[in-house]
Amino acid sequence: MAQAEVLLDARSFIPKLVQGGQGQYPGNPANLMGVLQDAPSSSKGQLPKRPMVRTYPVEERGGFIWLFFGSSSMPAEERPPIPVIPELESSQWQAVYGEMEFEAPHWNVYDNALDFAHIHYVHSGSFGNPDKPEILDMDLKRDTFGISGSFKIHNKPVSPLWQWTKVPFVPVQVQALLPMTSAVRITLGFGVQMITYVNTVPIDEHRSINRFCLIRNFATSPVMDSFVEQEMLKILGEDKVMVESLKPEDTPFEVSLEADLPQIMFRRLRQEWVDMGYAVSPASTTGHAGSLSP
Ligand SMILES: [Fe+2]
Repeated sequence: MAQAEVLLDARSFIPKLVQGGQGQYPGNPANLMGVLQDAPSSSKGQLPKRPMVRTYPVEERGGFIWLFFGSSSMPAEERPPIPVIPELESSQWQAVYGEMEFEAPHWNVYDNALDFAHIHYVHSGSFGNPDKPEILDMDLKRDTFGISGSFKIHNKPVSPLWQWTKVPFVPVQVQALLPMTSAVRITLGFGVQMITYVNTVPIDEHRSINRFCLIRNFATSPVMDSFVEQEMLKILGEDKVMVESLKPEDTPFEVSLEADLPQIMFRRLRQEWVDMGYAVSPASTTGHAGSLSP
């Protein structure tokens, strides 16, 4: 989406900014406005004065760096909101960050993030419950920039360690935010809550990357972070195997059930923004002719 932000992991912000400020190869640095400063093979007078690298407004929010890819003439106050959730910036919650690449188009990876029926099958070894796979009481609404709502699933503790949090039904709150962010909160017994916050970012037409954060309001000691990160990577790894094996572009038609409503509503919302002209064309890697006049 042209007017929406794409993110980088905040921890890699500095290296990536420096990388972005370099010329096309090491040793030929551009300044941070993208103008080439030096090239060993040319005198300074021959260097292009115009920016060689496009620069973008950036903002750090919730542990991520957000790039605004929309029109540079759009005033900052008119840009759509960065899709952070309050828990990302709260000291009461502990966050673990990570990322995973998918050999699949971004729209397909994100569709999977909003497909809640699959959790009982793809994640049956963890929090899924294949014996009682119903999605109950789905209730969704939309606004200008996203879809939000709730449903319930039958509880199945992940392991005996989680038995103390057991409740008959697990309430699940979901948000699907433009351009491609999902936030899914589950609430267990004794107020234990976890939120999976996932941003799907296209790399190219066929590959994408999920930059995620798992936020929890219990066992908030950083000592637990590596365990939590491994659990999140395990779950995303299950999604990766399944999503990379799908060929939705070869599917002639879809049959949608009520549990598919989040994807259907988000696709409509996103298409409305695309129809208003807010989409960014995919980057081209072919057809570059160079800048010298023969
Ligand atoms: Fe999944």
